[in-house]
Amino acid sequence: MIDKTMNQVIGTMWLIASISASFRRNVLSSSFQLASFPATAARVPSSSFVTSTVQQQIPFITKNRRTAVIAAAGAVSGGSGGRVSSAVQDKGLLEKTGGKSSSSSSSSQEKLNTNPVKGTRDFYPDDMRLRTWLFDHWRNVASTFGFSEYDAPVLESEALYTRKAGEEVVDQLYNFQDKGNRKVALRPEMTPSLARMVMAKKGGLPLPLKWFSIPQCWRYERMTRGRRREHFQWNMDIWGVAEERAEAELIAAMVHFFKRVGLTSADVGIKVNSRQVLSEVLTKLGVPPEKFAATCVLVDKLEKVPLDAVQGDLEELGLDRSIVEQVTEVLSIKTIEGLKKTLGDDSPALKELNNFIMLCEAYGIEDWIVLDASVVRGLAYYTGIVFEAFDRTGQLRAIAGGGRYDKLLETFGGKDNSIPAAGFGFGDAVIVELLKERNLLPTGLENAGTDTVVFAMDADLYPAALKVATILREAGQTVDVVLEAKKPKWVFKYSYRIGAKFCAIMGSDEYANQEVQIKDLIGDEKLLVKIDSLSEWASSNQSRTQ
Ligand code: HAM
Repeated sequence: MIDKTMNQVIGTMWLIASISASFRRNVLSSSFQLASFPATAARVPSSSFVTSTVQQQIPFITKNRRTAVIAAAGAVSGGSGGRVSSAVQDKGLLEKTGGKSSSSSSSSQEKLNTNPVKGTRDFYPDDMRLRTWLFDHWRNVASTFGFSEYDAPVLESEALYTRKAGEEVVDQLYNFQDKGNRKVALRPEMTPSLARMVMAKKGGLPLPLKWFSIPQCWRYERMTRGRRREHFQWNMDIWGVAEERAEAELIAAMVHFFKRVGLTSADVGIKVNSRQVLSEVLTKLGVPPEKFAATCVLVDKLEKVPLDAVQGDLEELGLDRSIVEQVTEVLSIKTIEGLKKTLGDDSPALKELNNFIMLCEAYGIEDWIVLDASVVRGLAYYTGIVFEAFDRTGQLRAIAGGGRYDKLLETFGGKDNSIPAAGFGFGDAVIVELLKERNLLPTGLENAGTDTVVFAMDADLYPAALKVATILREAGQTVDVVLEAKKPKWVFKYSYRIGAKFCAIMGSDEYANQEVQIKDLIGDEKLLVKIDSLSEWASSNQSRTQ
């Protein structure tokens, strides 16, 4: 009996010793005296190999015991023979968590770089207040125009963006492989996500859709004024309307926003063109339709870089210098008459633009509109009217941009459910620059809209002060409790700084009478209110809408 047990103990110890040297270091306690056993199986790394070899070599281990040992073997190798937490596998864990001193985790840790990653921003409360102010305007305008808000994940499948037209936005992708080897990307824009969402419903959404969102978008851009590596972008899109009515409604919403924040048509213009103009010209010049999207992307580049820089790409597309020269001439047209001369009276592009301008007149926004055939936009998917909002001094990058994209679903393989669509994206960076320049940024945002600051004159009264705060909050007031022991002078100074209207002071005399003292910070009056009547007082003295 003793012999058998000894046999098992020795067998088990032999097995453990043979599994791996790393196991000895990490898992077993030193009391096992492993050094006295041969470490032959330290060269047995594969879990499946360990499992079968262990079973064959140790016939005297009982079935249960074998299972436990096999599990341990798998744990050591990290293989399928047994699961182990990644913490156990992580040999450096102790060092990383400071549980074991080593040269690499000495007290002199490198100081953390407190800057956000290049091109990204922190939003401290002051910045956040401004961001919320802007988003509130966007949301209000969108709902004034009957749009519904939607959202999508910031992480999308890379394939959603890898269009082949040579767009900048594709080169600027923040993309990587996730731990499951999926190719993913941070969204550079919202339109593909929106198309994916519409497509996912297989025609089940009631049309027309009027949807808006305020996504954060990521582009590995060269940083310039108003262009950064992340930005928030107000998106307004209409799906299911084939006529220019959609574009006109979208631009009317954009103008509504500009007016709300104090900008006029003297500050901002909206350049408008139709890709059909270019399409008609290219068709006349014999450029096949399948090259159209890529041509638009290259033509857009002509605005920013010299012809020589894109000449090679243009030629590859079949646009030799003479064609490019004719295209360049068309791009310089700035009037309907000019277009008529080039395209002829019956041009569908001309009709489309005429109709659009007539609608803008009906909205009363014609002062904001500037016809400009050079605007084609750098995204491949636009098919019709395109537009860009710009500051009239010409100092800033485009404020917003959009257009019609009737064929985007087709590029995702949704040929049968092609739905006409139009929309725009409006970034948060340039508009803030412009408002700053025009002195139109809001003031007084730091006033959080606090009704009452509640404080206790001494520590014993703090629970009573909390009761007061609770009654006021439940009655609808916005209440800030002074959490530390502070002098009244500090509290009043603080209350004025945050723009509070009242101070509710809990002193011992007041508490003895079941009252609280209210100081009106605007009228500079004081009154005593019974705690029982506090709710009534609060209801008639609040700014928060419920
Ligand atoms: P987009 O012209 O690429 O269009 O961007 C729209 C707007 O987003 C720009 O006019 C600008 O205000 C802002 N923006 C773009 N990139 C940056 C950046 N790196 N930093 C700061 N702001 C930026 C689109 O994204 C289309 N998906 C818009 C759209 C919606 N078309 C139809 N529906």
